[in-house]
Amino acid sequence: MDSTMRTETNCETPTPPGPPAIEFTGVSAGFGRKPVLRGLDLMVGKGEVFALLGANGAGKTTTINILTTLLRPDSGRVRVSGVDVLEHPDEARRCFAVTGQSAAVDHCLSTAENLMLLARLSGLSRREAKARTVQLAERLSLGSFIDARVGTLSGGMRRRLDLALSLVVPVDVLILDEPTTGLDTRSRRELWAEVSQLSSEGTTVFLTTQYLEEADALADRIGLLHDGRLAGLGTPHELKARVGEDTVAVRDRDGNALAEVPTDGTVRGISAVLGSLDPDYAEAAVTLHRPSLDDVFLSFTSNDEVRPRQKPVG
Ligand SMILES: Nc1ncnc2c1ncn2[C@@H]1O[C@H](COP(=O)(O)OP(=O)(O)OP(=O)(O)O)[C@@H](O)[C@H]1O
Ligand SMILES: [Mg+2]
Repeated sequence: MDSTMRTETNCETPTPPGPPAIEFTGVSAGFGRKPVLRGLDLMVGKGEVFALLGANGAGKTTTINILTTLLRPDSGRVRVSGVDVLEHPDEARRCFAVTGQSAAVDHCLSTAENLMLLARLSGLSRREAKARTVQLAERLSLGSFIDARVGTLSGGMRRRLDLALSLVVPVDVLILDEPTTGLDTRSRRELWAEVSQLSSEGTTVFLTTQYLEEADALADRIGLLHDGRLAGLGTPHELKARVGEDTVAVRDRDGNALAEVPTDGTVRGISAVLGSLDPDYAEAAVTLHRPSLDDVFLSFTSNDEVRPRQKPVG
């Protein structure tokens, strides 16, 4: 494991094998006197899907802007596919595609025209550009909207077009800033399927999201950005385990907590917990509580220390 991987979280997640696709080393950045990133260290392995989470204003888009050469950090080093984005920005730009929070499409052109335009600007011949346009429109279910002016597309269709545009030229690293914000559940899941497909084809995906369910469904690892650094780093499973264990919760008819007892979640463990409860609780309601990514987010992005879930009460 490279020393840049370590954070104050003592995360023991092994770095995926192979050279890293993305490396941040001691990256600090701010606006005026306001620090946003304060020595960010992060490494994303090749082929990994990495989700960066954080509260509004935590610095996720700033991180992406630095990674994609749009913003120079005050200090630190950033590499994409081994290329230093500060020293060789042109070369670095050839290693990634990015879909930002504000769609960079021409609203007066049609879906096909936008794809053709970008394909031609990327150096494809007219014939290659046309073939790529047809292929991407099919892949992202944009066929019915191929001749529609982008200004008339729904938000979901626009996000698909954003993704299609970022796939015009195959790249090693795909960077997505809140790719599914504003999408309905079906569109979101279709986009997840596309991201998973790209990942299975070997593309590294670095995304930010406000949807914890999205990070849970897609990400191999999650980083929680708080106070300019990664306050938490690990697989969804590891992070959930760090904020607490499974518990058996006992409540009275009015929903008041009577007891919350840790359990290993097995039939034997839960039976033992139930057997140990006060006989007076015989009519009480019992639920099994597992830490969710919501719990992880709240724990790691608060200014309090992360504490295990509370032990028996009452
Ligand atoms: N161009 C700018 N000038 C001044 N301050 C900025 C600028 N861009 C971002 N900031 C500030 O930097 C901080 C981080 O912003 P950033 O957009 O990176 O957050 P974010 O995590 O992406 O938030 P969100 O979840 O709302 O997208 C915020 O406090 C924001 O106000
Ligand atoms: Mg943002």
